Amino acid sequence: MSKSHSVWVSRPLFPEVLASLARYVELSVENKETKRTPEQLHEKLAAVDGAIVGLSDRIEASVLAGNRRLRVIANLGVGYNNLDLPALTAAGILATNTPDVLTQTTADYAWALMLAAARRVSSAERWLRAGRWRGGMRFDDWLGVDVHGKTLGILGMGRIGQAVARRAVGFDMRVIYHNRSRLPEATERECRAEWVEKADLLKRSDHLVLVLPYSAQNHHAIGAAELAQMKPTAVLVNIARGGIVDDAALAAALREGTLAAAGLDVFEGEPSVNPALRELENAVLSPHIASASADTRRAMAQLAADNLLAALGYGPNAGHPPSLLNPQLLGGQGGET
Ligand code: DGY
Repeated sequence: MSKSHSVWVSRPLFPEVLASLARYVELSVENKETKRTPEQLHEKLAAVDGAIVGLSDRIEASVLAGNRRLRVIANLGVGYNNLDLPALTAAGILATNTPDVLTQTTADYAWALMLAAARRVSSAERWLRAGRWRGGMRFDDWLGVDVHGKTLGILGMGRIGQAVARRAVGFDMRVIYHNRSRLPEATERECRAEWVEKADLLKRSDHLVLVLPYSAQNHHAIGAAELAQMKPTAVLVNIARGGIVDDAALAAALREGTLAAAGLDVFEGEPSVNPALRELENAVLSPHIASASADTRRAMAQLAADNLLAALGYGPNAGHPPSLLNPQLLGGQGGET
């Protein structure tokens, strides 16, 4: 049976997810993730009715120029700073993301980075693998900083921030947070989290986890001035987005010992990583994998596929993509999701 809609998928996805798409639409799937130029993206999108894209695909106004065919962009990720949402909305193109399904897995990973950075796990493993454990280790070698009983700070208290906070109970930590808007009291109680000013958060946190979305206002929300306010024994964890931290300033703080350690999953200009960070033993670095458990990546891919099919009028949610970022195009409330 010939299919009336064509869809481009900018990277390989799980076979069962692709099969769920192929039931309804003509598919073209790239066999690897690549950073494409705006011209390349323009050409790909001109030929299809819908696309599944990821963080490395920057869907800007120039990429959409003159496109009269495209109806939906389904983003693989909850963060969507790779999409120019106003431009998509102005062009009448539906945009979707993948919230909720990754909340718990991403919160787990914040803890993995916090614990690894605080207790020097990566550095110790590199040392061991290099065959340097030959006896003669001192009792005061490999000293890290404790996590239990300390103060956990969270900058950005959306779904993932709250999930990070809930995990602190078992570590007997005090939780403080800063967010543009304060959480309802009941949620604060449930998360055992206290709202504080950003300056207090910086000063008081023993472990500071960044979970805020990227925006022009949040660019370098943690720069040299903010790092200077933190304790020299503190650990910084960034699972949010590259660009929220000034990576060069962070590398300087870690090198000079004004900050104890960092766990970083996201970087300015990734996949490039500031060479100064790569050299530091007190930085635990990973390639943007906070949501990468098998179950969660599969759920994200399926949600992106469900969003896309619904936008094109197929499947159980036909006409109602489950996580639509510009509902005003379908007569719903516009703005924040
Ligand atoms: C997200 O979902 O925003 C993750 O960071 C993957 O991009």
